[in-house]
Amino acid sequence: MAPKRGTAARPGASGITRTCSHRVDFTNVPGTVIVGAQWGDEGKGKIVDLLAQNSDVVCRYQGGPNAGHTIVVGDDTYKIRALPTGIIRGKPCVIGNGCVVDLEVLISELDAFPDGELYLSGNAHLIMPWHLTIDQASEHRLGKLAIGTTRRGIGPCYADKAMRLGIRVQDILDPKILRQKIEVALAEKNLWLTRVYESEPFDLETVAAQYEGYAQRVRPYVADTSLYVETALREGKNVLFEGAQATLLDLDHGTYPFVTSSNPVAAQAAVGLGIGPKRIDRVLGVSKAYVTRVGEGPFPSEIAGDDQTRMRELGGEYGTVTGRERRCGWLDLVALRYAVRVNGMDELALTKLDVLSHFTELPVCVRYRMRDGSETRDFPAHQSDFHAAAPVYDVLPGWDEPLDGCHSVADLPAAAQSYVEFVERELDVPVSLVGTGAERTSVLSRG
Ligand code: IMP
Repeated sequence: MAPKRGTAARPGASGITRTCSHRVDFTNVPGTVIVGAQWGDEGKGKIVDLLAQNSDVVCRYQGGPNAGHTIVVGDDTYKIRALPTGIIRGKPCVIGNGCVVDLEVLISELDAFPDGELYLSGNAHLIMPWHLTIDQASEHRLGKLAIGTTRRGIGPCYADKAMRLGIRVQDILDPKILRQKIEVALAEKNLWLTRVYESEPFDLETVAAQYEGYAQRVRPYVADTSLYVETALREGKNVLFEGAQATLLDLDHGTYPFVTSSNPVAAQAAVGLGIGPKRIDRVLGVSKAYVTRVGEGPFPSEIAGDDQTRMRELGGEYGTVTGRERRCGWLDLVALRYAVRVNGMDELALTKLDVLSHFTELPVCVRYRMRDGSETRDFPAHQSDFHAAAPVYDVLPGWDEPLDGCHSVADLPAAAQSYVEFVERELDVPVSLVGTGAERTSVLSRG
């Protein structure tokens, strides 16, 4: 699906690149990672969009079109899945080696941003049509145990990468190699598809012809992105590393198996772009002022009853990619504390504070009660403990007034300011940005 576009002109035209009134000065911070601190959908796209105005390059380092970044600019809503969000600001964008690429999706987004400057890693892996089929068929087979994936072929593609059976972006540079790789892959995949999943096999000629066509379109963008990013950093440019998905969906550090198949955590920015870890200067986490989760898996602070529906409606909590209802919960500081730790977070952006305006009381999960009755502030290391963890809440007062007239943090109602300060104290991390609405300008800086 191409980004939804309104009547305004392309990126770079007036109205689209206008700067936000709340500037964040990242002048002296060349390498900044923006990472989701919860289960995704924290509003990272909007924060990247805000910071991109002072950046020279914006890079994706993992994931693929399972991401769905929504940016509202005036009457226009952009929904981007493959390209880095910086494309809306007309910034040079990089898709790193750690990403998986669905060429059909990428091309539809390139068509929507024809002036976009893109550098696509030749080492990124391609999501092939059989990855989508296997993702769907595998979820279907798992039945009640399904992960609830976005069904975009992410897991099967990363699995082939690890199996060394994958097809990479650089393979499209040579039609002979491309055809050969498709042939080798299909020899195995068609067996699986027909015998295990009882699906239709793919025809070599059809797939080869389709990917030859895609290759023509995408070839000009293929680049040595490791060299490009390193050179930009050496030249003192500001580079944003845009995480997709989030900490608790991380393949190693998330709530396995209900996770994605890549590593969204901040350290992956180095691996997924081919730069050294010391190139990361700052880690900015992004969290909602509450929590949402799509897909299956444990969720201690999930709200029971009508407030769940109320929060979903108020926050518009439906998946950008799948349209699925998101499960909603009160802010979970135990999980956030963990995200601070595993990402080495320097600062936090707290988004969608306005959604809480409609609640008179705001429970915040500060500890988990464990099976033996003990309480902990630390995220459980083992799955059975996490499954059994019950939330222990502090209840903070609500503010019952809209936040749309607030132009600075000082304008926020006292209870809203206290809520933000409570989060800061509990996490021992400064909250540097506060989101108060869907618009690009509704981010208040506390810098
Ligand atoms: P996959 O990434 O499609 O394999 O899905 C694995 C898990 O990650 C599922 O629970 C998805 O709902 C979740 N997931 C993947 N991408 C996103 C995202 O961008 N936001 C929220 N959840 C996501």
